[in-house]
Amino acid sequence: MNRLVVVSNRVPLPSAGQSAGGLAVALDGLMEKRGGLWFGWSGKVAEGPGAALAQVESAAGVDYATIDLTQDEHDRYYNNFSNGVLWPLLHTMPEMMKFDRRDARVYREVNARFAASLHPLLRPTDAVWVHDYHLLPLAACLRARGVKNPIGFFLHIPFAGPDVLAAAPEVAALVRDMLAADLIGFQTDNDVANFAAAAQQLAGATRLSANALQFGGRRIKLGAFPVEIEAHGFARTAARMIFSAGGERLRRSLEGQQLILGVDRLDPTKGLLQRLAGLRTLLTRHEELRRHVTMLQIAATSRKDVDSYRTLRAALDAEAGSLNADLGDPDWQPLRVVSRAADRAAVAGYMRLARVGLVTPLRDGMNLVAKEFVAAQDPEDPGVLILSRFAGAARQLTDALLVNPHDPDAMAEAMNQALRMDVTERRERWRNLWAAIADRTPVLWGRSFVAALLRTTTPMVRPTRQQPHFAPAATFPADNVVALPQARIETRIGRVELETPTERRRLN
Ligand code: G6P
Repeated sequence: MNRLVVVSNRVPLPSAGQSAGGLAVALDGLMEKRGGLWFGWSGKVAEGPGAALAQVESAAGVDYATIDLTQDEHDRYYNNFSNGVLWPLLHTMPEMMKFDRRDARVYREVNARFAASLHPLLRPTDAVWVHDYHLLPLAACLRARGVKNPIGFFLHIPFAGPDVLAAAPEVAALVRDMLAADLIGFQTDNDVANFAAAAQQLAGATRLSANALQFGGRRIKLGAFPVEIEAHGFARTAARMIFSAGGERLRRSLEGQQLILGVDRLDPTKGLLQRLAGLRTLLTRHEELRRHVTMLQIAATSRKDVDSYRTLRAALDAEAGSLNADLGDPDWQPLRVVSRAADRAAVAGYMRLARVGLVTPLRDGMNLVAKEFVAAQDPEDPGVLILSRFAGAARQLTDALLVNPHDPDAMAEAMNQALRMDVTERRERWRNLWAAIADRTPVLWGRSFVAALLRTTTPMVRPTRQQPHFAPAATFPADNVVALPQARIETRIGRVELETPTERRRLN
């Protein structure tokens, strides 16, 4: 059985305790039983130049190999380019991005350094699975070093349309680099379609079918693999945690009011200000709801060295203060905002207590909080999920109240409807929502991706003189690309078993 090698920016190092992030929770269970190698950033910023050799630690059959970043790499690769350019761009918010060629260069250099450190650790039969927007060129960097293993890439966040992507000068080259993978996975069909269009328009790939492209003589498979949660386990946690000391304290503090709950990282894509605008409209339109409703927004501090996140924090603090001052009474405030990341189990209890779950991002790859909210509910007396149409989860959770987060009236109407919804309708909606998540798990998600990766063809066509196949696009611009006839060579690498999800703290 071949080993699975996972590569991601963040690595849930056992020595560092639990890790935040949607990526970690989806993956860390997959490798524990089966064994494997997880490679990425140590989470540390080194004083001097970054060392080439990875530090390795092992636990529960998994090797964790990490490298430190330098301060300059952390600033430019992680803060400026990954989170200051790619994050807003791929979420179709190009006006928020701050492009600088030097950041793009360091982003590529860090990817090349990842490849250089990972390469000596790879075995010929490994299947390599690369994750997320920090590592778009990694497959090309590995191919440039002669790595022939099957490489899969999965994007956890949305993929924007080609006209939006064109706003960042570097992106055409990055799309070409992504095509060095054998399988490229996304959260939804919409992301697949956007990527296929970008690969054709920006990189010159040929569309072979809905789920296959040809580029440089190779066939690249595309697919939608929506990330899932361990719904049964989360439901059990919620049922237990509602009676924890923290759950009891929150319930007592509500004094019979209905709870509207939001749980997010403090991130410009999450639509937090728009959510408060909806709450303001609700309580202005429906004065009778005042004193009967409290909204709790957990807005966990995130990426605080990125300008747009700092600006959002200031704006959110100002609007929360003014909302409470404008609408509150001496003994009642409509809104509570908490910026500390809450423990995942505690959040499960809060979710079970809530009458309304507000998951209203402006754009989101999936949003697992929406699925967790469903899982946390009491089937006999479930709360109502209000979900943005622009979250990937809206494609599966169609029995939520689907809203456009840009429209405060629609948000207020949905909240009003949710607060007044009778128990029969709440139960019926919840049953359908539960059915959409109950039989899926992160383990099945991981298995299906790896199985699809192992079914892909490996790149066996001989390179032309003009176009070495797996050279990073930065070195070989599009003009030199010559499409070769498609070669289809099946390789069976073997079966990969992925098991045992674990519960870790995660915010999307
Ligand atoms: C999203 C991304 C993950 C990332 C997480 C937390 O879920 O898809 O790749 O790890 O946010 O963000 P951070 O910048 O703290 O890693």
